[in-house]
Amino acid sequence: MSDILEFLKKMPAFQGVPDQSLRALQGLFVERPFKSGDMICQEGEFDPWLYIIAAGQCQARKKNPKTGRDITLRTLHPHEFVGLTSAFRPKPRSATVVADTDVKLYAISHDDFQRTLLDPSPHAGVLRSLFEYLANNVRKKNRQVAEFRQAQPSNGKFSVAVFDSKPYTQETFLQAGQKEFDFQFFESRLTPKTAALAEGFGAVVGFVNDDLTAESLQILRSVGVELVALRCAGFNNVDLHKAQELGLSVTRVPAYSPHAVAEHSLGLMMSLNRKIHKAYQRVRDGNFRLDGLVGFDLFGQTVGVMGTGKIGRCMVHILRGLGCKVLCYDLYPDAELQNLEGVRYCELDELLRESRVISLYLPLNRDTLHIIDQEAIEKMQDGVMLINTSRGGLVETQALINGLKSGKIGSAGLDVYEEESAYFFEDFSGKTIADDVLARLLTFNNVIVTSHQAFLTEQALVNIAETTLQSLREYFQGKKGEQLTYAVSLG
Ligand code: NAI
Repeated sequence: MSDILEFLKKMPAFQGVPDQSLRALQGLFVERPFKSGDMICQEGEFDPWLYIIAAGQCQARKKNPKTGRDITLRTLHPHEFVGLTSAFRPKPRSATVVADTDVKLYAISHDDFQRTLLDPSPHAGVLRSLFEYLANNVRKKNRQVAEFRQAQPSNGKFSVAVFDSKPYTQETFLQAGQKEFDFQFFESRLTPKTAALAEGFGAVVGFVNDDLTAESLQILRSVGVELVALRCAGFNNVDLHKAQELGLSVTRVPAYSPHAVAEHSLGLMMSLNRKIHKAYQRVRDGNFRLDGLVGFDLFGQTVGVMGTGKIGRCMVHILRGLGCKVLCYDLYPDAELQNLEGVRYCELDELLRESRVISLYLPLNRDTLHIIDQEAIEKMQDGVMLINTSRGGLVETQALINGLKSGKIGSAGLDVYEEESAYFFEDFSGKTIADDVLARLLTFNNVIVTSHQAFLTEQALVNIAETTLQSLREYFQGKKGEQLTYAVSLG
């Protein structure tokens, strides 16, 4: 028994406690050995013992209340208590403790512990309440730690699931953030079928064609995800109401390189106008004739820019550089653009009527869905060129096909397509394209379709990774919802 007294005297928790108090306790302890792997006590069950670890080490584990998964809270070493938070009132255990090695414990029953420590004191009631308050606080903190640790693997880095990831995405994310984050890259899109793969990750990174409707969000939340960080600007694929209801934060990358998208639009415009796509094939085939390759000078032409936000504004500047007259349409005209020579804001009808080329830079929302429909196309000039590097849903595809067939639309450059999510970013070269509308679009030799690649420049990829990482950092530092710099809000 003197062994126990000597041991208790060395315990940090008992420093300053008079010897006589420890002597009163020592005879009440019993020695209990456990083998490695033995369960010492189980979370949620009543156990009337307070233990002190005398030798060996144990693991304290707790179930994450949201996911039901066990989280290791910490490793307990000699001189540490097991069950202190249950020692003052009969309470189920707040954590499971398992012997990590063979261990020796000193055990004292809660009754003996309380009787000896508290009952003789005139302030026993106050002490008991105080200890209970502290014990409850520890329990609460443990619960928070279990929720927090869910997202943090043992190597100390936060784990993040990146969906719809391709080699170019992986490379830039790893370069920018592999020291801080443990990325798990999934090639598959985030959909209700794949959302459960996010279990164990605090945050997911999504992209333009991920299905972030209510069902996916519900699954993400149920496996412990609290942040959806979009690595794109548009967020029309997210059910924001559902996200808010579930307490999921959503962020995006509002601007990564508006130049990248505007320059791709220019590329489509130039290729279509000067028939570079045809010339390339023709010359490779040994055909050096020029018939059918006649274009027009862009200089002096009227070009309509629908949406003069970050990308539209870049496009206006490019077009001015080419010597075009620019007609702009936007709910909120840009004061700086308005004052530029050769640039004028007008009503949509005028833009549709007067433009030789029409280029779209609007976000997709309820008001802009199918803004280019049969009626709009009928108002356009014969042979008009249409460029869409924004979102497929801005254009009613069947109306576009009708316009192409009738010649009303002279050419179309499309980086986006309404139903692109089934095809874009994937290799279908060995398969059949079952989407008749897309297949029909691809038959026109005056249509160039690119696979949502307008953003794809080195600078944009780096900016995307850095902004997304900033959101992840802020989230793991405890920020949520509107506190996040790049939060997408319902407003
Ligand atoms: P932005 O938010 O800076 O600009 C959008 C402009 O549209 C704003 O000036 C706004 O006032 C205007 N607008 C919104 N609703 C309108 C309406 N109903 N009628 C008239 N004007 C309206 O957006 P940003 O960065 O210029 O991007 C535009 C779109 O481009 C994005 O929403 C995204 O869908 C698309 N995008 C496509 C990419 C690609 O790789 N193809 C890459 C990045 C963005």
